[in-house]
Amino acid sequence: MQVTVIGTGYVGLVTAIGLADAKHDVICVDLNKERMERLSNGIAPITEEGIEEALQQNQSRLTFTTEYPVSDLYLIAVGTPERADGSCDLSAVEAVVKLIHSIQPDAAVVMKSTVPPGTTEKLQTVYPSLRFAMVPEFLREGTAIRDMRNPHRVIIGAHDQQLAETLTDLFKTNAPIVHVDPTTAELTKYAANSFLAVKISFINEIARLADIVGADVEDVAHGIGLDPRIGPAFLKAGAGYGGSCFPKDIAALTTLAQQQGEHLHVIEAADRTNEAQLQYVLDKINPSPGLHVALLGLAFKPGTDDLRDAPALRLAERLTKMGVTVTGYDPAAKTLLDQKESIEEAVAGADLAVIMTEWDEIKQITPELLVKQMKSARLVDGRNCWAYVNEPGNVQYEGIGRPNKTF
Ligand code: NAD
Ligand code: UGA
Repeated sequence: MQVTVIGTGYVGLVTAIGLADAKHDVICVDLNKERMERLSNGIAPITEEGIEEALQQNQSRLTFTTEYPVSDLYLIAVGTPERADGSCDLSAVEAVVKLIHSIQPDAAVVMKSTVPPGTTEKLQTVYPSLRFAMVPEFLREGTAIRDMRNPHRVIIGAHDQQLAETLTDLFKTNAPIVHVDPTTAELTKYAANSFLAVKISFINEIARLADIVGADVEDVAHGIGLDPRIGPAFLKAGAGYGGSCFPKDIAALTTLAQQQGEHLHVIEAADRTNEAQLQYVLDKINPSPGLHVALLGLAFKPGTDDLRDAPALRLAERLTKMGVTVTGYDPAAKTLLDQKESIEEAVAGADLAVIMTEWDEIKQITPELLVKQMKSARLVDGRNCWAYVNEPGNVQYEGIGRPNKTF
């Protein structure tokens, strides 16, 4: 089957690779000419484990272009960013649908972008000759290829039975396939992200209490996570969540609800707690003008170079405003910060190092290195991940919700 994927970011590119894996011919369209040229030469525009190999393996089935082809099936994977008022900006999605309609008025159009509940139905009303479906994407950055190849479920939101069957074949998997209407598929996507964000904010609140009462949140998370009704995932306390999706999806959902006169109290609270969590890390740093802070890890999570809504960047901005000297290090992400090529250089002469992203090499920084390079070996672990936490040597260690280790 020949499929066209529009937008070659994390979702579009990884989806295209998945379809090519299944021996479909895929035409990938993107406005970004440079990105298309690089992809045509087998160069991945994003840092993702296994992506270059996957591109090479599927080279003969993937075409990259800036021109929209005539196609029977279009998958939309363009961005749906946050507007200033918190709502979801659908302008790219709308522009793409309009173009598809002008090229192939009876095409099947599958939404992979995250769009607010009701969007697909509205588009169906505006373009009755197109056949729409909503198939939300659940991959995580950093493990995108693996997640795409081993999904937990595929949600197919379509009224058109024939299209639903085509999509069941197209996204063939051993995981459960759930057939629903498009609005339910859209809400399922937002509910999943919101629930994960609630779990993170929940454990971050417990972490703050653990600091007060002298408990260890890591052990609490382990203890509660053993209950299968709770589960161990997404109970890692730290500097809070960031990334291209949780913050903007929560804003979109809570804004949509508010516009309908409804308050999503739990989800709104998760967002407030996340904001407070960054302030909590800032308070642990105890910033003052002239202090030199080294931020270790800048991407919003390990395994990616994505800096969208990265907590490290938000922290850097606040520190810089307070007159603090900030140096940074990240193995993949490139920023405008005073970014160094190595951990050694980033922490050299620093008063304090703060772990913001749990990359393997950052988790493994030795106490000896910190003592040798830093002005004073003080480590705030914003991800509770440091490998030497129980043998810190002369390092003054402070995690989030776990007893300090001071020598
Ligand atoms: P992205 O920003 O990485 O990529 C979007 C791509 O679309 C860009 O390459 C851009 O040039 C292209 N584009 C924009 N307008 C276009 C147009 N009119 N025609 C052709 N190309 C166009 O985005 P992403 O992170 O892949 O996210 C895409 C959607 O998927 C969003 O709705 C997001 O919420 C959702 N999503 C993302 C993830 C993730 O992990 N990043 C996971 C699940 C769902
Ligand atoms: C998240 C979801 O996990 C995906 O299922 C979803 O498809 C995607 O959003 C999306 O819609 O874009 P992603 O943002 O790539 O994926 O990464 P996560 O692993 O979910 O991490 C998000 C943030 O939460 C990171 O900043 C991470 O550090 C933080 N986090 C995660 C915690 O602070 N604690 C945890 O226990 C887990």
